[in-house]
Amino acid sequence: MERQNIFTILARDGHARRGRLSTAHGTVETPVFMPVGTVGSVKAVCPADLKDVGAQIILGNTYHLYLRPGDELVARRGGLHRFMRWDGPILTDSGGFQVFSLNELRRLGEEGVEFRSHLDGSRHLFTPEKVVSIQRNLGSDVMMVLDECPPGGSDRDYVARSLGLTTRWARRCREAYPAGAGEQHLFGIVQGGIYEDLREESLAQLAGIGFEGYALGGLSVGEKKADMYRILAHMGPRLPENAPRYLMGVGTPLDIVTGIENGIDMFDCVLPTRNARNGTLYTSQGKVNIKRAEFREDDSPLDPACSCYTCRTFSRAYLRHLYVAKEILSFRLNTIHNLRYFLDLTARARTAIEAGTMAALKAEIAAAYPEDGA
Ligand code: GUN
Ligand code: ZN
Repeated sequence: MERQNIFTILARDGHARRGRLSTAHGTVETPVFMPVGTVGSVKAVCPADLKDVGAQIILGNTYHLYLRPGDELVARRGGLHRFMRWDGPILTDSGGFQVFSLNELRRLGEEGVEFRSHLDGSRHLFTPEKVVSIQRNLGSDVMMVLDECPPGGSDRDYVARSLGLTTRWARRCREAYPAGAGEQHLFGIVQGGIYEDLREESLAQLAGIGFEGYALGGLSVGEKKADMYRILAHMGPRLPENAPRYLMGVGTPLDIVTGIENGIDMFDCVLPTRNARNGTLYTSQGKVNIKRAEFREDDSPLDPACSCYTCRTFSRAYLRHLYVAKEILSFRLNTIHNLRYFLDLTARARTAIEAGTMAALKAEIAAAYPEDGA
């Protein structure tokens, strides 16, 4: 029997797509923002909070969960969903990117990447086969291939050689988990830095292998914003039409609407959760630094346009007080709000695509976040 297409496009507005991704733990309405839950927890909030803010799918990290508590321990507890009590879809990143960003001492070879744990210095080897096996143990709905993400300033020769390695690793991941081998999806990762022709080459090689979805990696890694937007405009519309398209680790509200405008369906970023914990809050009027003295006696809600629990319940004065007093409730309330902002943004994009009004949404976000443009 032929496998049913896992991704359906319901509406379009220019290159933007309104779609639906099916997974073993339910369907995901796209464009979608995925809150980051690196170590099996979206920091400061519980699964009930995530449901309440409208999260559909969350992200976990192979690198961290392999090191602690260990993927086999998680498998013995029935997999990551059951362990963390999140019953919706989960995407796991492959670990490649985290090895590069968290390890000074790593050795890259054809076989894989050798690294030392950032926790205890112990030595480990990630091969394509190993990261598939870890993600099988975790039981994520979407697994990512092992890739090398060259730093933003890498020269063309380096990037060209690197993308070949990424393709060979991707093929080994596919061979370790052939299409239809199980209910999990496997996505390929397009590299190629800021070079259009190398990006196209990387995509052609990955599309030749065949994956359930395609990601753009290696963006927002230190390159200029204008370069990222140029690659996004060039590659977004060229990614395979009938598969979900994922822009990894990006970005600001304006980056996300720009991605959507260029045909991207999925996003993840630590910005809403990390910034929540340092008091930077995303609102309809732009970024708000909650510790500022001007909020000391401000009884208004953080964002009158927001319907999250935090905005429905508390004043700016109270949120400022919690932040200044370093109360742990500050982390939770701020995270609830920031996640709702990012999730609302993608929900509004879904509505806008159906209505043919993406350009107006983009203009509104660009006006609220003028500092984030190229
Ligand atoms: N997260 C953000 N960028 C990347 C990337 O290039 N590769 C992987 N695996 N994860 C990422
Ligand atoms: Zn709010």
